[in-house]
Amino acid sequence: MNMNHRVTKAVIPAAGLGTRFLPATKAMPKEMLPVVDEPAIQYVVAEASKAGLSDVLMITGRNKRALEDHFDRVPSIEAALEAKGDHERLKRVQEATELGEIHYIRQGDPKGLGHAVLCAKQHVGNEPFAVLLGDDLIDERDELLSIMIDVQEKTGGSVIALMEVDPAQISAYGCADVSAVEGEGFVKVNGLVEKPAVEDAPSNLAVIGRYVLHPRVFSVLEETAPGRGNEIQLTDALETLARAEGDGAGVHAVVFRGRRYDTGDKVSYLQAVISLASERDDIAPALVPWLKDFVAGL
Ligand code: G1P
Repeated sequence: MNMNHRVTKAVIPAAGLGTRFLPATKAMPKEMLPVVDEPAIQYVVAEASKAGLSDVLMITGRNKRALEDHFDRVPSIEAALEAKGDHERLKRVQEATELGEIHYIRQGDPKGLGHAVLCAKQHVGNEPFAVLLGDDLIDERDELLSIMIDVQEKTGGSVIALMEVDPAQISAYGCADVSAVEGEGFVKVNGLVEKPAVEDAPSNLAVIGRYVLHPRVFSVLEETAPGRGNEIQLTDALETLARAEGDGAGVHAVVFRGRRYDTGDKVSYLQAVISLASERDDIAPALVPWLKDFVAGL
């Protein structure tokens, strides 16, 4: 990986209400739901950190104070573990505080993903930056973000991540019309549509929650009218950029074929927990034999 790249900032929108996980999310942000023994959001921040993005801006809202607490030190817990000589657990507790410099800003009025990204304008300034959606968990063994950063540097515009989905599922996602770029591992985006009806979808390529954006997206977002769900859609701003000319225009995409979980969806969330736990040395020996028996008995 090229560690001298210009992209250093990550923006993580985390202002969503977590309605799909009620009542668990009544008093707790959905980003704090544990995936094995780490909150879902920590995987996302760790992914940004691993790609060299050590400046993270989280866009939060009401009821999200637990996020700030999680990425802060807790001297009393650390002292207690230290006193017990439990260095293993101490290390795990400190991991979250060592992932980078985390900043927080509140969205106030939740007017959609595009509006959340626009809240980052002042912090990001005039540099390309990454956006990682908290609901999307990308398996750390499958590289995506660093490839997208390389593509951004090569193309100069914005870069999105796409994944092939069952055509019947496309209406849950942004959908892209793309064409091949000769000799390259990425594609050109000709157009984008947010959550189209199955019959109107230009492809079965779904937008997943990783973006590397040119700062021109901010001025486009400022001019983007509310779209689907009466929200300001990032997909609509990217559609404009895909068709624009000049500096910072153009959108390319990396088609991801690795493991992704949507931790905002109950079934996919459970799949993430089971599959990640099944691969952990400290859990698998007890879990996997039980899981096999359990499945055989279904
Ligand atoms: C958002 C985007 C959508 C994208 C999806 C990926 O939708 O608007 O284009 O496909 O994330 O997870 P949301 O899931 O927030 O409704």
